[in-house]
Amino acid sequence: MGVPSRTFRRSPSYLLPCVLGLSFFSITVLYLYKVDDFANTKTVAGHNLEPTPWHLFPTKSFAEKTRHSRAYKILHCSYLACRYRDPTTTTTRTTPKRRRPHSPHTIPKCPEFFSFIHKDLEPWARNRISINHVMEAKRHAAFRVVIVGGRLFVDLYYACVQSRQMFTIWGLVQLLRRYPDSVPDVDMMFDCMDKPSISRTEHEAMPLPLFRYCTTQDHFDIPFPDWSFWGWPETNLRPWNEEFQDIKHGSEAESWSRKIPRAYWKGNPDVDSPIRTELLKCNHSRKWGAQIMRQDWLQETKGRFEQSKLSKQCNYRYKIYAEGFAWSVSLKYIISCGSLALIISPQYEDFFSRGLLPKKNYWPVSPIDLCPSIKFAVDWGNAHPSEAKAIGKAGQDFMESLSMDRVYEYMLHLITEYSKLLDFKPVAPSSAQEVCTDSLLCLADLEQRAFLERSIAAPSPAPPCTLQVVKSNVIDSLIEQKKRITREVKEMEMQGNNIT
Ligand SMILES: *[C@@H]1O[C@H](CO)[C@@H](O)[C@H](O)[C@H]1NC(C)=O
Repeated sequence: MGVPSRTFRRSPSYLLPCVLGLSFFSITVLYLYKVDDFANTKTVAGHNLEPTPWHLFPTKSFAEKTRHSRAYKILHCSYLACRYRDPTTTTTRTTPKRRRPHSPHTIPKCPEFFSFIHKDLEPWARNRISINHVMEAKRHAAFRVVIVGGRLFVDLYYACVQSRQMFTIWGLVQLLRRYPDSVPDVDMMFDCMDKPSISRTEHEAMPLPLFRYCTTQDHFDIPFPDWSFWGWPETNLRPWNEEFQDIKHGSEAESWSRKIPRAYWKGNPDVDSPIRTELLKCNHSRKWGAQIMRQDWLQETKGRFEQSKLSKQCNYRYKIYAEGFAWSVSLKYIISCGSLALIISPQYEDFFSRGLLPKKNYWPVSPIDLCPSIKFAVDWGNAHPSEAKAIGKAGQDFMESLSMDRVYEYMLHLITEYSKLLDFKPVAPSSAQEVCTDSLLCLADLEQRAFLERSIAAPSPAPPCTLQVVKSNVIDSLIEQKKRITREVKEMEMQGNNIT
């Protein structure tokens, strides 16, 4: 009996340090293990993400120098920031809250171009969208957004160039603030690079639903408002409503008759865009009536973009729009000037450009014989100043009507219509993370944060506009009409007799 009792008496004296040592050891191991976990977590800012393999770009660098500071930041921003959620987005969702009753007569109809939502979703109208469709679309996606019960989760696959990912997801998070009770549960795949990838011929048997910033008539990609509506820090473009007001103000600096009677373009010609290369050849005021300027981003970044302020580029009567590598975010700024927008027949369309009509709010310029086409437009405008001015003004009015309120309404209707087509109940995958206003502000660097803070949305005081159900042939005839007018302008130019 002596031995056990001695053991019994002795045991606390060595067990205690043992237990303490062991727990200290395991906490340390757990901590170190977790540091790795946190440090390796993918974030909307681009941590631990590779560029998309289908479009390479330089990998991002971050301010945090050590693994520990990165782990701390990610722990803080990604894991803890959405715990204490903003009360405007955390309304109890079990029973959808009733809005103040609005008489149906006071709710305005959505603009006509919203009807393209149905056209874009037509490929799935009959057979609907299965989880299989979504998982197949993943192969072309940079991230997945799942909204469940008004909470937004992202599953990140690849980084996006510059701050596109952060600002695109920010836009969705703001949509939840704008319409806290209305955004349905949804599961969407996004790509953030320029060119559409779901070709209609290649994917005819199984159309894949993939959201991106633009599409073409030969693609299934679903156009969605691009990041620049919330700001583009790398080019110093502020949120759209601010930028528009500034441009409009700048456009009023000179009357129409005092604006320079030539066509102006300023941008980056080195983006692998044949049309921009072609455009450089038209740089001759007398011969082609055009001034083509190269935007030197490096130089402009140093000068804080003072030279590229969009509001100072409205003193020309004509402003040229030329697509870049695909669609270009510059379209909305160019049309906002109220000058006559000379749009070189675009191949790509974004969500709103489909609402523009030739000779109503822009002048179509043919890419064939580009310089003479520009010259023809300039001569026509100078010979018909009141018509040219009216078209320019109609363009500006169109852009003014595309307020951020409209952009959110478009997003809401698009997501709602899309969600109706899902034949499964969206569930956030285990690898996804919740994202909220605070977590994005936390992950943003100082510069990004300044832009994000300017575009925080407030709950909408009114219900969204009413989406019209339009027959597909109405949209087809609209597209036909656009083509016809564009053709007529080209014929006028070829006959060369037109100016009077
Ligand atoms: C176009 O011409 C103007 C004036 O002649 C010149 O300053 C400008 O650099 C030219 N643009 C390009 C892209 O070469």
